[in-house]
Amino acid sequence: MRIHTYEKLWLVGSMVLIVGFIVTITYGSVGLGISMIDDEDENVAPTELNDDERFGEPRVEQVGDDEYAAYVVAQTFVFQPDPIEVPANSEVTFHVTSRDVIHGFYVPGTNLNAMAIPGQVAEMSVEFDEPGEYGLICHEYCGSAHHDMEGLIVAQSENEFDLTDLSVEAPDEVAPGETIELTATVENGQFEPLETTVDAELGNETFQQNVTVDGESSENVTFTSESDTLGEGEHDWSVSVEDYEETGSVEIEGNESAEGDES
Ligand code: CUA
Repeated sequence: MRIHTYEKLWLVGSMVLIVGFIVTITYGSVGLGISMIDDEDENVAPTELNDDERFGEPRVEQVGDDEYAAYVVAQTFVFQPDPIEVPANSEVTFHVTSRDVIHGFYVPGTNLNAMAIPGQVAEMSVEFDEPGEYGLICHEYCGSAHHDMEGLIVAQSENEFDLTDLSVEAPDEVAPGETIELTATVENGQFEPLETTVDAELGNETFQQNVTVDGESSENVTFTSESDTLGEGEHDWSVSVEDYEETGSVEIEGNESAEGDES
């Protein structure tokens, strides 16, 4: 069979185009690492978010050596947590759901873009190459203050980022002669042990104690002071560790005078 030269050219040309299309589409869907939002087996009832171990306390958690998970709840008209602090140069997987209506989860200028649908969990992984602040907006109409619904993702450098938390237990008032105990609980949410210093002040006394908190655990540090030394009245206290500080005050009751006033 004889094929005309021009016809051969057209045949070859269309073959090249067809192969070109297939290569382009394959590269676009696999090669660029862009994936569709994954919600396989990921469901959570919006009414049970408070009891859910992932979303009860929206937070960032370490899940691998350089891997973190961020559990984010969208609701009219905020994102929780706010801000969302994540480490730069680590893989962060966002798990996003909604407590009420459909919201959007979009970081302008990036492909971090999902719908937050009540009942479903959207998942997407990203790595922030540079520390910095990234605005987060809701881009699905969700009600009267939709245009104000925004959040913030803060990608922090390795030195800056931590999953440390401080809580303090202290009495509101003590009787004269009693010992005052300030108990600081230092939580370390990261895998690496945390070596740090707890500073405390009570009245005009100051305390300092070094503490090492193993990965994913917490340590208590207790400071004591005698109410007789401090004297009657209200005394401010503060406890700090790293960038965290808790403050309060304790009242040392008057001796007989208080009872006398009441009668
Ligand atoms: Cu939430 Cu729009």
